[in-house]
Amino acid sequence: MVLMMKSGAARIPWWLEEFKRQAPDLKVRVWPDVGDKKDVEFAFVWAPDPGDMATYPNLKAIFSMGAGVDHLFKDPDLPNLPITRVVDINMTRRMTEFIVLQVLRHHRQQPAYDALQRESKWQELKQPAADQRTVGMLGMGALGSDAAKKLSGLGFNVVGWSRTKKKVPKVKSYAGAKQFNKFLSLSEILVCLLPLTKETENLLDKDAFAMLPKGASFVNAGRGEQVVDADLIAALDSGHMSHATLDVFRKEPLPADHPYWSNPKVTVMPHVASYTDPRTVVSQVLENMRRARAGEPLLNTVDIKLGY
Ligand code: NAP
Ligand code: GLV
Repeated sequence: MVLMMKSGAARIPWWLEEFKRQAPDLKVRVWPDVGDKKDVEFAFVWAPDPGDMATYPNLKAIFSMGAGVDHLFKDPDLPNLPITRVVDINMTRRMTEFIVLQVLRHHRQQPAYDALQRESKWQELKQPAADQRTVGMLGMGALGSDAAKKLSGLGFNVVGWSRTKKKVPKVKSYAGAKQFNKFLSLSEILVCLLPLTKETENLLDKDAFAMLPKGASFVNAGRGEQVVDADLIAALDSGHMSHATLDVFRKEPLPADHPYWSNPKVTVMPHVASYTDPRTVVSQVLENMRRARAGEPLLNTVDIKLGY
């Protein structure tokens, strides 16, 4: 049984070490040194080159190395095979840490205090309480629903938006295009944890930002392509929005000349909101390989029609 792996170079040793620990007999080949492509039965990949997945004649399944699968659907020749993604407690915890950290930072006006410090100004800003603040969660899946619950536990009003209605205690659910504007009109701190699909690409444009309450802020840990960058910059520059913390971008790494870097109302993070943890994810990959060979349904499969 051969697993082909394509990852960021820095992470390869961590993955190899964990596969060796959990499955010492498994043959793992690291792209591009894949050997005879006929041997490869499974691919565990992040952003494979378009066309590459179709060149393994005996591939049984493709495992995304992340929670998102948009990097796979960018391939027009993606073979028609089961695709799984990462749903994992460590992925969720790390994302919730990031979202809670950033929401609190926006709620407690940390960017404004940072700016005051740069001017040596000792000044108190009027501070609403958590129950006077509404956080809007775009995407109420594995990641969004956990962050929404934890934020609600901190006392925020939390509203969620998803494709289908959700029942999460104390989180009011809005669903579908018809309820999008109502949801936005409530969201003083808007958080995006949506997958990138045809429906969510460019979703956050000038019309969406205009629906937010004046002074709203934005945290994006979904995907960069969901945001029309020029529209976000215009909403920040006009004063309609107060701050944006962006972890994901259309082009990564964010080019050095991108206007986000120098905009004082933008915090740039290098796609680190969460992280696929080899300790727990290797066992999921091994379980799915076992299932595929036994003809059992795989865990955490993606709906190919929906694209997530
Ligand atoms: P998930 O469990 O599949 O949840 C996706 C959520 O988005 C669901 O609630 C879904 O609605 C909703 N949704 C999808 N399409 C929609 C549409 N057209 N309109 C309204 N709602 C829609 O995904 P997840 O595990 O939470 O991950 C979400 C995304 O986070 C990933 O795809 C990835 O892009 C991003 N991510 C980023 C990082 C990072 O480090 N920055 C790390 C991990 C993940 P339903 O529930 O009704 O289906
Ligand atoms: C990271 O962005 C992921 O999708 O896991």
